[in-house]
Amino acid sequence: MGGNGRGVRVAVIPGDGVGPEVVAATVPVLEAALRAHDGCLQVTELDWGGERFLTEGAAMPADAADIVRGTDAVLFGAVGRPDVPDHELVWGLIIGLRQQLDLAVNVRPVRAFPGVPTKVRDTDGVDLVIVRENTEGEYVGAGGVAHAGTGNDLGIEVALHSRGVIERAAHHAFTLAGQRRGQLCLVTKSNAMRYGYPLWDRVVREVAEQYPDVTLETVLVDAMAARMIQNPKSLDVLLASNLFGDILSDLAAVLAGGMGMAPSANIRPDRSAPGVYEPVHGSAPDIAGTGAANPVACLLSGALLLEDLGHRAAAEDVRAAVADALADPANHTPDLGGSATTADLASAVLNRMEKRP
Ligand code: NAI
Ligand code: MG
Repeated sequence: MGGNGRGVRVAVIPGDGVGPEVVAATVPVLEAALRAHDGCLQVTELDWGGERFLTEGAAMPADAADIVRGTDAVLFGAVGRPDVPDHELVWGLIIGLRQQLDLAVNVRPVRAFPGVPTKVRDTDGVDLVIVRENTEGEYVGAGGVAHAGTGNDLGIEVALHSRGVIERAAHHAFTLAGQRRGQLCLVTKSNAMRYGYPLWDRVVREVAEQYPDVTLETVLVDAMAARMIQNPKSLDVLLASNLFGDILSDLAAVLAGGMGMAPSANIRPDRSAPGVYEPVHGSAPDIAGTGAANPVACLLSGALLLEDLGHRAAAEDVRAAVADALADPANHTPDLGGSATTADLASAVLNRMEKRP
């Protein structure tokens, strides 16, 4: 989906908890970035999420996918509220959108910004991307509960891994690796699991033959968890299943300063549906309403959105303004050890955007 001329039509779903706070911090920055490059942002705000679930019985309307298809991209905050069962919102909105739009790949870049403290030592220079398969694996929702309510309840959760789905995630990861350091790590668990992950290994090795310039390494997920902390700079592009990608990307976020720093893009590699761009974090009900939310994950998700729609210079401006603001500890939110509010950090970024020539 290309932009409409230089105009970018974005559906904005603020959602619940800190979602609306980080989205409000992001939209003006994206507007300023596009304006500086003769573009413009056209926002359609959608009130989907927990509030809508409580009043209308569904987190989003039945024709949600069609509404979204009429735009170039979606900026999504987060969903989740204590008075609504998680699955109603997570399945009823974000996983639902991913599946209906067939957003096959979740791209999760992790970059350590100079001056940002982290709980792990020696993270300067960390710059990696996790490519997570987004539609299958352990999150496909297949299974059931047998003997329910008898005291011998039996939970059955079936993982699905299909060749075509593995192939399209692999092509995306190899292409990205080719544009970066030519190095791809496939993360599986083929020693203990006998069917799904060995299929991943075989299929990805086959796809690798089409990318002679990229070196493929296969690493078991437990070993990867240790390596991510011990030697994160040895990593560039990682390809992982839905479950492993989810877990490893929260771990990787710690290398950049935590959940407040981790952006993501849910995309269809052939670009035949708009992507959904969102911070990796959830609605953070523990800090919602206090002004303590770090908006960087959402801002960087916005930068990914601009880049994927071809506004590369605008995206780079956003990243540069974020990096420059983060270099000053006065702009750090509490998760980074500072006392700045969401609005303080957002205006530090916006000021830098507006000062750019
Ligand atoms: P969470 O990501 O909301 O919070 C985990 C921890 O990280 C909390 O201590 C929180 O304060 C902190 N945190 C998160 N975002 C932050 C930010 N921007 N700045 C500073 N600190 C931040 O995950 P949790 O607590 O497991 O889930 C809370 C709710 O969010 C649940 O209802 C869950 O289902 C939902 N959720 C929604 C997601 C989505 O909409 N894509 C993803 C993950 C969880
Ligand atoms: Mg997660």
